[in-house]
Amino acid sequence: MAQWFNPSAPRVKSGEVNPAELDARSALDLMLAEPLLIRRPLMEVAGEFRVGFDADAVRSWIGLNDAKPKGDIEVCPKGHLAQPCPAPEAPLLNPPRKRGRRRTRKRLGQLWKPAMPKANVTFDNIGLTVTVPAGTRLIEISEKIGAGITYGCREGECGTCAVRIVKGMEHMSERSVLEDKVLQENMAGRDHRLACQAQVLGGDIVVRHG
Ligand code: FES
Repeated sequence: MAQWFNPSAPRVKSGEVNPAELDARSALDLMLAEPLLIRRPLMEVAGEFRVGFDADAVRSWIGLNDAKPKGDIEVCPKGHLAQPCPAPEAPLLNPPRKRGRRRTRKRLGQLWKPAMPKANVTFDNIGLTVTVPAGTRLIEISEKIGAGITYGCREGECGTCAVRIVKGMEHMSERSVLEDKVLQENMAGRDHRLACQAQVLGGDIVVRHG
C-alpha cells in the first residue's frame, strides 16, 4: 500500500504523512482529500488498476511501443525547488451569486412580470359588480358575495345552476361536451352556462339567474 503514495508529495517527503503507518482506509481518505498524495500515473485497463510506472511490468500487462519516455515520469517536471502547485479549490456547494446579474434579472423580472388577468363580473339580480381573477368559476363568485345562484351537484350534471350570460360570453371559458349536453337537456339557450362549470377569463361579464 505504501507504493500508492507519491514519494514526491511534500507531506510525504517531510514525513508528515508516513504511508507505512497507515491502513488502506486512512490512506484512501487522505488521498481523496489531497490528490497530490496519489502516486502517478494511475492506470486502469479492463477493470485492473495499477499505480506507478514500471515499464517492464506495463509492457507485459498491456504492451508498449519502444519509444521510451524522457526523464522520470513519476516526478514533477518542474523540479523540487519550484513552488508546489496550488491545491485545487474544493467546489463551493452554494457559490455566491453575482450581485450585478441578480439585480438586473430582478429588474427585468419586475418589468416582465405579467399582470394577473382579471374579470369584472356583474350579477344583474343584485346589481353588484366584482373584480375577480381569471379562471374563477361563476358559482364560486356567487357564493362569496351571496349572489344567490342555486346549485345541486356542482359537477355539471344536474343543470340546477344554469344562468344567463347577458353580456361577455366571449370572456367565458369554452363549454365542455358534458355542459353542452346538460344545457340542451334543460332546453337552455346558447346564452346560458352552468355556473359550476363556467369560468370567467377577463373583460366585463354580466350574469342573470333565476
Ligand atoms: S350544480 Fe349541478 S350542474 Fe351545476
